[in-house]
This record gives sequence, structure tokens and C-alpha cells, in this order.
Amino acid sequence: MQDLIDRVAGIVEAYPDEHVLTPKVAEALTEALARGLDLPAATTRPNPDRYVMYPLYIADDESFSIASAVWDVGQGTPVHGHETWGVVGIYSGQEHELSFVKPTVPDVPLIANGEHVWKPGEVTVCCTTDDDVHQVRCEGDAPVIGIHIYGGNIGTIERRSYEPETGRVDWFVSNWGDTD
Ligand SMILES: [Fe+2]
Repeated sequence: MQDLIDRVAGIVEAYPDEHVLTPKVAEALTEALARGLDLPAATTRPNPDRYVMYPLYIADDESFSIASAVWDVGQGTPVHGHETWGVVGIYSGQEHELSFVKPTVPDVPLIANGEHVWKPGEVTVCCTTDDDVHQVRCEGDAPVIGIHIYGGNIGTIERRSYEPETGRVDWFVSNWGDTD
């Protein structure tokens, strides 16, 4: 994990443009997953009530954070945005992602923009600030654990959830899961 942290910190410092840095972060995460990450058990357990994100690392200056995101079987998210860049890689299980075009005007139905099932070891740039709207859920009969890297402290960022049929927005904060 320290290797990944150091590499992402270097990339974030060197490349302010998120369209440039995200492919580099994706490459670093792909290599880290291929090498194998040793996640603490407390950051891989599903919460029966809802999907959960555990902090693996939060930069002191909050320029980026790394989360272990755990979706139990049958769990998923509403349609949501991130308001920053994001790179997601699958540690175990499978994640179904449905993407949407980020609306530029309020209260219009969202336009679907593709779907994909992500498998262990696969990495995607899920988000740049201008293109960050999707809905994800656990696919299959095992929980999905993802390593999520975001351009800020994702446990405190105010971001949007969307009602896709109407474009109605609600603001929310994810809050970090409890690692005790
Ligand atoms: Fe997301």
C-alpha cells in the first residue's frame, strides 16, 4: 500500500491536470493490484445495512484519498457524482457500473452513457470533474471490494445524487466507514 500511496502522491504533485493524472493513477493502481495489496481485515468487511467506504489513506493536504469500498451482495448506490477525479480498481468480486452523461442544466432526465462489469484486477478512470456520474452495484453472489482513489477526501466531499428520470439533485456526504 505504501508503494501505491507514494506513487499517487508523486503523480498528483507533478500533474495538476486531472485528464493527464488519472490515466497515470490508473496505471499505478493496475500495477498495485497485480502485485497484490494486503488490506487490513477491518477494511474489507461488508456492512449489512449499506455499502461502505473505509479509509486506507487520506493525504495530509487532502489532495487525494484511497478507500476500500465494499458492496455486499445485493447492495448498490443511487446515481451519484463525485465532484472530483476518481480511479477505481477491483480487488475482489465484480462491480456493475452504469454511467450517465453529467447534466449541464438542472431538472432534465439523465442520459445513460454505457455500462460495464468490472472484474478483479481491472481498473477504470470512473470520474473527472466534468464526467463523474454513475451508479454501481455488486454483481454476482460475492461482495465486491474496490480500491477507490479520489482527488480529495471522499469521506467529506459534498456531492450530488440524482434521480435519473427527472434530474432532481440531492446533496450528500459519504462519510467514512468505521474501521474499529
Ligand atoms: Fe462512484
